[in-house]
Amino acid sequence: MFKVAVLGATGMVGQKFIQLLAEHPWFKISSLAASERRVGKIYGDEVDWMVSSDIPDCVKDMEMVPMDPKHVDADIVFSALPSGVAKEVEKNFAENGFIVASNASAYRMAEDVPLVIPEVNPEHLRLVEVQKRKRGWDGFIVTNPNCTTIMLVLTLKPLMDLSLKSVRVASMQALSGAGYPGVPSMAIMDNVIPYIGGEEEKVETEPLKLLGQFDGEKVVPAKINVSASCHRVPVIDGHTEAVWVEFDRDVKVEDVVQAFESLKPLNLPTSPEKVIVVRKEKDRPQPRLDRDTGKGMSVVVGRIRKDKWGIKYIVMGHNTVRGAAGASILNAELMVKEGYIK
Ligand SMILES: NC(=O)c1ccc[n+]([C@@H]2O[C@H](COP(=O)([O-])OP(=O)(O)OC[C@H]3O[C@@H](n4cnc5c(N)ncnc54)[C@H](OP(=O)(O)O)[C@@H]3O)[C@@H](O)[C@H]2O)c1
Repeated sequence: MFKVAVLGATGMVGQKFIQLLAEHPWFKISSLAASERRVGKIYGDEVDWMVSSDIPDCVKDMEMVPMDPKHVDADIVFSALPSGVAKEVEKNFAENGFIVASNASAYRMAEDVPLVIPEVNPEHLRLVEVQKRKRGWDGFIVTNPNCTTIMLVLTLKPLMDLSLKSVRVASMQALSGAGYPGVPSMAIMDNVIPYIGGEEEKVETEPLKLLGQFDGEKVVPAKINVSASCHRVPVIDGHTEAVWVEFDRDVKVEDVVQAFESLKPLNLPTSPEKVIVVRKEKDRPQPRLDRDTGKGMSVVVGRIRKDKWGIKYIVMGHNTVRGAAGASILNAELMVKEGYIK
C-alpha cells in the first residue's frame, strides 16, 4: 500500500478523493491537510459532508494537519486546492520530494509539467524527467485537466485519426464544479448563468497540449482549433457538452461511433470497463441518469449526427469523479504502473 495525503480535504473535490480513496486497493489515506482555520481539528467534526455516502471511518477521527511537507506523511499528495493557493503549496511539496497529483490549474500549462489523461496521452508522463532536471526538485507535479476539458478530450482523442480539424463546444456545467458552497442558490435556481470565469480559456487551450506530441523535451501542441462557450446550469453533478466537430475529409456517423468504441480501457483499479459509452436513445445522455456510468469514470455520448460541416454529438461525464478526483487517482495509478512511484 502507498500512503497518500489529500490537500484541501474539506472541499468538493477533496471529499470525492476521500470517498474514492477509502476503498482503494493500492492507496491508504495517511494525512489530511487543511486551511489554517481547520488545523488540529477533527475531520468528521469540521467537514460539511456533501457526497452520497457516510464519511468513511478511516478519516472520521483524523486530525487535520497544516499544508506543510514537514507535517505530512505520504508517498503521494493529491491536491484539491484552489489554483492561487496551489501555486505555492504544490511547489513546496514537490521541492521537498513529494509526488503531487494535482487538480488545480496552477501548473497545467507549464511547459515541463505533464497534463495527463491516461487513456489519451500516457507518454506525456515522461515530462517528469524534464521537470526534475530543469527545476532541481526531488519530487514532481503531474496534473489532470479541467473537468470540462476531460470529457471533451476523451472523445476528441479517437477522432484525431479521422483528420479532426476544428471543434466547437457549448457546456452545461454542474453546480459541484463551482466547489462548496459554490454558486448561491438564489442565483442558479430557475436559471442558467452564461459565464464561468476562466473556463473557456482552459477548454480552448488544454486540449491542444493533451492531444499534442511529446518530442522528448516538450509537448508540441496539436494543430486543431477549439472554440468554447461555457454555462452553469442547476444540475448537482455531471457536465453535459454539445460538441460540433469538423474534419479534413468526409466522415460518417458510423466512423465516429466506431472511433469512440475503439478507445481502450486501461488495466488499472479506477479504470472503467468502457471509457466511452455510446447511447443510441434519442434523449441520452442525461446527467441524472448517466453520471454514475462506470462508477463515474466513463463518459457517455449520444445524439451523434451529421450536419453541414461535419458531425455533432453530446458528451456527459461526472465532473468530480472523471473530471477531478477520479482523474488524479487514475494518473497516480498510471505512475505506479510505469514505475514513477516506488
Ligand atoms: N469541483 C470540480 O468539479 C472540479 C473539477 C476539476 C478541478 N477542480 C479544481 O479542484 C480544486 C478544488 O476545487 P473544489 O471544487 O473542491 O473547491 P472547494 O470546494 O472550494 O474546496 C477548496 C478546498 O481548498 C481549501 N482552501 C481554500 N483556501 C485555502 C487556503 N488559503 N489555504 C489552504 N486551504 C485552502 C478549502 O479549505 P476550507 O474548507 O478550510 O476552506 C477546501 O478544502 C480547484 O483548483 C478546482 O478548480 C474542481
